[in-house]
Amino acid sequence: MTTQTMRVIHIHSHGGPEVLKLEEKARPEPQMGEVLLRVYAAGVNPIDWRICQGLMKASMPITFPYTPGLEMAGVVEEVGPGVTAFKRGQAVIAQTSAGAYAEYITISVEALALKPQTVSFAEAATIPVGATTAWRVLFDHGGLTAGQRVLIQGAAGGVGLFAIQLAKWKGAHVIGTASTANLDFVRSLGADEVVDYTTTSVEGIAQDVDLVLDGVGGKTLSSLLAALRQGGTLISIAGPPPQEEAQARGVRAMMSRGAASVPLQVLTQLISEGHLNVTAGKAFPLSDVQQAHEYSRNGHGRGRIVLQIY
Ligand SMILES: NC(=O)c1ccc[n+]([C@@H]2O[C@H](COP(=O)([O-])OP(=O)(O)OC[C@H]3O[C@@H](n4cnc5c(N)ncnc54)[C@H](OP(=O)(O)O)[C@@H]3O)[C@@H](O)[C@H]2O)c1
Repeated sequence: MTTQTMRVIHIHSHGGPEVLKLEEKARPEPQMGEVLLRVYAAGVNPIDWRICQGLMKASMPITFPYTPGLEMAGVVEEVGPGVTAFKRGQAVIAQTSAGAYAEYITISVEALALKPQTVSFAEAATIPVGATTAWRVLFDHGGLTAGQRVLIQGAAGGVGLFAIQLAKWKGAHVIGTASTANLDFVRSLGADEVVDYTTTSVEGIAQDVDLVLDGVGGKTLSSLLAALRQGGTLISIAGPPPQEEAQARGVRAMMSRGAASVPLQVLTQLISEGHLNVTAGKAFPLSDVQQAHEYSRNGHGRGRIVLQIY
């Protein structure tokens, strides 16, 4: 029997986009409890290029050759022994610890959820990381409740676009920050107020905020802390917030990491029922993965970048 091969992205050393190589290798076989997934599209997250660059060595060590990619959408090609919950031909989404930049991946059925029929494969590939991260910040760590005021910094991004919609679904008053070109998009997601960060500081515009989701970090953090009410909370996913300044202002500030409490199935149901819309960002073919990482490194754009693989 001839071994079937697949195209896959490998890095063999840490570095910038130039270390991403399109190579061929044998297609993997699904083991007990796994499926072989034909990957139609993979999300390109900012953390992907940070891992490749070697910036996450301490918390997320990797071995070479390494295939980036934490999320994908595709079709079950083959089921491994013991798998009854999924069958060949089903369209699914999945989150993984690595390996989505490839034509095929083997993955545990526990990481899978059926793809909502209302979205394309490219859109579906952007759900796992963005939606679960937004849920974790808003609800697991932020305890957001109806009627509260929430400020989403980086509202047009792959996490922000889900955060706006999940906060609205919960019944919160939502303020989103974005550049001029993305303001209408952020409004269309349901934001009650938008702030153009290229012309206006949130300080003085957004006040008495209960919860800030910070997806940008850096210099913007001071003005975000100033927008909080006394006792309010800033949760960053972009970097550690300044604790001393938070204490001095009488607010809490924390970094959010780890798994979310929400199963993917809950999120896909919200999407199927029309509570959440999914917007994919710029799409690149697998062969243009270097350009996709270049684009991601800019830190601007609308929605999650995707690799359109099939
Ligand atoms: N801890 C975790 O679990 C976790 C999970 C996912 C992501 N993250 C991190 O969170 C950050 C955001 O992730 P993402 O996936 O949403 O990124 P993304 O898809 O690249 O989006 C970033 C967004 O930030 C906006 N932006 C850039 N500068 C801004 C500023 N000064 N003020 C307001 N908005 C600004 C950009 O919009 P414009 O085009 O309008 O500038 C863009 O839409 C990244 O650093 C990522 O690594 C962490």
